[in-house]
Amino acid sequence: MKNLRNKNIKGLKVLVRCDLNVPIRNGKVLDDFRIKKLIPTIDYLRNQGAKIILITHLGEPKGRDLSFSVRPVAKRLWELVQGRLKFVNDTIGKRVEKEIDEMKEGDIIVLENLRFYKEEEQNDDDFSRSLARLGDIFVQDAFGACHRNHSSIVGITKYIDSFPGLLLEEEIRVLSDALVSPDRPLVSIVGGFKVSSKIKVIKSLLDKSDYLLLGGRVANSLLISKGLYVKDLLSSEEEELMEVAKEINLTDPNLQLPIDGVMGLINFDEDYSRIGGIGSIRKEEDVYDIGPETIEKYKNILSTAKTIIWNGPLGYFEKEKFSKGTEEIAKMIGQINREVFSIVGGGETVEAIQKLGIENQFDHISTGGGAMLDFIAGKELPGIKALEYEN
Ligand code: 3PG
Repeated sequence: MKNLRNKNIKGLKVLVRCDLNVPIRNGKVLDDFRIKKLIPTIDYLRNQGAKIILITHLGEPKGRDLSFSVRPVAKRLWELVQGRLKFVNDTIGKRVEKEIDEMKEGDIIVLENLRFYKEEEQNDDDFSRSLARLGDIFVQDAFGACHRNHSSIVGITKYIDSFPGLLLEEEIRVLSDALVSPDRPLVSIVGGFKVSSKIKVIKSLLDKSDYLLLGGRVANSLLISKGLYVKDLLSSEEEELMEVAKEINLTDPNLQLPIDGVMGLINFDEDYSRIGGIGSIRKEEDVYDIGPETIEKYKNILSTAKTIIWNGPLGYFEKEKFSKGTEEIAKMIGQINREVFSIVGGGETVEAIQKLGIENQFDHISTGGGAMLDFIAGKELPGIKALEYEN
């Protein structure tokens, strides 16, 4: 891979792919962790006299849906960088190019959501070319999106001189160091909601970890696939996952699944919740958190760990009554942090530990969720591979 520091970028238009996919409510950024992590790259580019053009995706919009606009992110970034920063409400085209041509050294432009164009996720060649036209060089700093085969991650690198950004370099360095010969036992924890990408790496994670603790919808899907609890109405995503899940050997002694849970109703009646064994789940219920016995079991395993890697909350932690599993496990890792090397990643997991104010108790907080898991599982990330070609 090339090194950005070896390139004279004074006066150049530097197009930076960032992962500013952050939670937003009522036009306000709820968690600015990913935005803050980009600041060293921005500072470096500004100090070198570059013109900085930032592109990112945000959520999963279907077309140009302004509730997924990047504008609130640009506003938060402007508060943080205290420099000349402009938001432009499109992503490609003549008007955007004209705005960029008028930039001065050190200026920042934030462009609108890449995913307003369906071509982005199709890794469309014309779209990649249109993106490449926006800069003199390209900097890939969106570690969190490097597992996607999209235009701004892969296709674009064919058409413009491309470099890894400072944040991407840091993620690769820390995660690689931690994985080459980790202190053992290595305990991985996987939870959260984006089941489809996670379930596919479970087998590799099992090979690498001494224990793999599961929670959230990933655990639910596995339990359903083995008939350990019945859910009549599966979402189309869950249906698809059943086949993948069936291949995972649940009797693997390194694989740890919840033995009890905090149940709520599928139709999500606010007043209802109950604790029970996994075998006791009723048809009208779903599991929204790990139960007290599972928390104890997981804590016992974690107390033996020397390295911990965690992605995805263990329950629906935004609701207080389903937050205990995630909180207890987070606090436990925080308490033992002097003796272990701990890595945590994924938007929701980071949000959960920030809510508890214990983010300083982890050794590395990754900006990647699915990307971090794929990296750890040894999968080649398309966005990193694309930077390895010299063009
Ligand atoms: C993430 O939040 O994990 C990244 O921004 C990737 O988002 P995606 O899963 O919508 O591609």
